[in-house]
Amino acid sequence: MKQIAFEQFKINVHKKTGINLNQYKEKQMKRRLTSLMTKRGFSTFDEYWQALQKDKDLYREFLDRITINVSEFFRNPQRWDILENRIIPNLIKQKRDNLKVWSAACSTGEEAYSLVMLLNKFFSLDKVNVLATDVDETVLKEAKKGKYSQEKVKEVNKDRIKKYFEIEDKLYQVNNQVRKRVTFKKHNLLEDKYESNFDLILCRNVMIYFTEEAKKNLYRNFYNALSPGGVLFVGSTEQIFDANRIGFNSIETFFYQK
Ligand SMILES: C[S@@+](CC[C@H](N)C(=O)[O-])C[C@H]1O[C@@H](n2cnc3c(N)ncnc32)[C@H](O)[C@@H]1O
Repeated sequence: MKQIAFEQFKINVHKKTGINLNQYKEKQMKRRLTSLMTKRGFSTFDEYWQALQKDKDLYREFLDRITINVSEFFRNPQRWDILENRIIPNLIKQKRDNLKVWSAACSTGEEAYSLVMLLNKFFSLDKVNVLATDVDETVLKEAKKGKYSQEKVKEVNKDRIKKYFEIEDKLYQVNNQVRKRVTFKKHNLLEDKYESNFDLILCRNVMIYFTEEAKKNLYRNFYNALSPGGVLFVGSTEQIFDANRIGFNSIETFFYQK
């Protein structure tokens, strides 16, 4: 009975949000949702679903729980050093003018803005364009605002803080020049079409939540979305074990080249 209720819950969620929970690791997702539902005083997924229809805050909390959108600037800084010192210079050698870059599952935008700051070391800002996408419209709204707590910018060096942020009431606002370089769009990695000819794609800290099958499709889609020589940069627990079979070369840990 419980499983049937969860199956129906997943169908409802898919219809309402476009997010197909069957493509997320079931045990983990069910545990996350059951603990939230119980915390809010519901004992069945039916009851919980009915309540979600009526209560906006409850619904927002539920969406946050399924999308898990924590992020920060230059998350895992050693990886960003490799991106800056090895990957980007090599991409520039292949293609000198400018790079087509995508921050997939960008959450509240920290990763996309970090990319602009990093690319500005190699190109003037007017040549830098980053596409940043997420399935969750609420995080995209926050991303466009570009305002962050100190905790989120702790890995940003002093020069970059000075150059790219305005600080007010302990909040760090990404300046207009940087914000203009990012295009935020809604995109579901598991259902929507991908653009093509990217030189660099970042998809970090989301694939861990997907089933093996969903991940395989994702890798294939990213492969097709890259230009020859283009690079996919994944999160620090998201190594691709059969990268060669897809056609990728593992050029550094967590970096895969087409
Ligand atoms: C933990 S955040 C990662 C943010 C950033 N990439 C980073 O590494 O700091 C995961 C993001 O994936 C998004 N997400 C979850 N499922 C998705 C899907 N099917 N398509 C696109 N984005 C998705 C969530 O909304 C969330 O904002």
